[in-house]
Amino acid sequence: MSSHPIVLGTRNPGKLREYQSILGELGYEMVSVDAPEPEETAPDFEGNARLKATAYARYAGALTLAEDAGLVVPVLGGLPGVFSARFADCEVDPSLGKVLSYTPSGRPRPSLDEANRLRLLELLAGHEGEARRAYFQMVIAVADADGTILFTASGEAYGRILYEPRGEGGFGYDALFAGDETDGFTFAEVDAARKNAVSHRRKALEKVHTWLLARQGLLTGHGECHKLAQ
Ligand code: IMP
Repeated sequence: MSSHPIVLGTRNPGKLREYQSILGELGYEMVSVDAPEPEETAPDFEGNARLKATAYARYAGALTLAEDAGLVVPVLGGLPGVFSARFADCEVDPSLGKVLSYTPSGRPRPSLDEANRLRLLELLAGHEGEARRAYFQMVIAVADADGTILFTASGEAYGRILYEPRGEGGFGYDALFAGDETDGFTFAEVDAARKNAVSHRRKALEKVHTWLLARQGLLTGHGECHKLAQ
């Protein structure tokens, strides 16, 4: 099968590999784009994924995928949500699920991740049982070469937030997140393959895989694939 390039709006080689391992079997080759990252100004993951896909597609002039993800804690009104990566630098009103202000501290990623986890634990102090339910959400947007959004897909991984971190692997909130599909082990305690098999990214990516397969069927006019489109 000949390979068609798809641009992935990231410079993260780990993300590129995961996309390649799933979409490569359809004959796609993932390539990263060295474009300036657009500001994530949307109020939700889908909005950010769409604006990134459009910006990168216009820059690259090719079919493009972009994603946005984070942790959602319903008892905190959905926080950290789109502020997941920079939560500790935000002043929040958890009763309203709102970020009141954001002041970038400029600290390096590992210490910001740790501060984010601490902030989450502080806000959840006094919350027990069901109130500690949470999920990771990932939205992937696909844009045509001219920036038009063709498709979006969302994936979720459900679990609960522990009282203290467990495990050395992963990143972000992994050490606090005991997944329903990882038998209560945190995403930092299981190996990458086990996390990737049930992750929010995997679930969204599988929907993109199905959509691309249908699109190939439509483009070549073969098979039953037109029934799957959109
Ligand atoms: P990104 O959009 O994939 O960079 O994710 C934004 C932020 O959400 C990250 O900096 C993490 O804080 C959090 N996040 C997203 N996915 C995960 C995950 O799989 N594990 C832990 N944290 C995550």
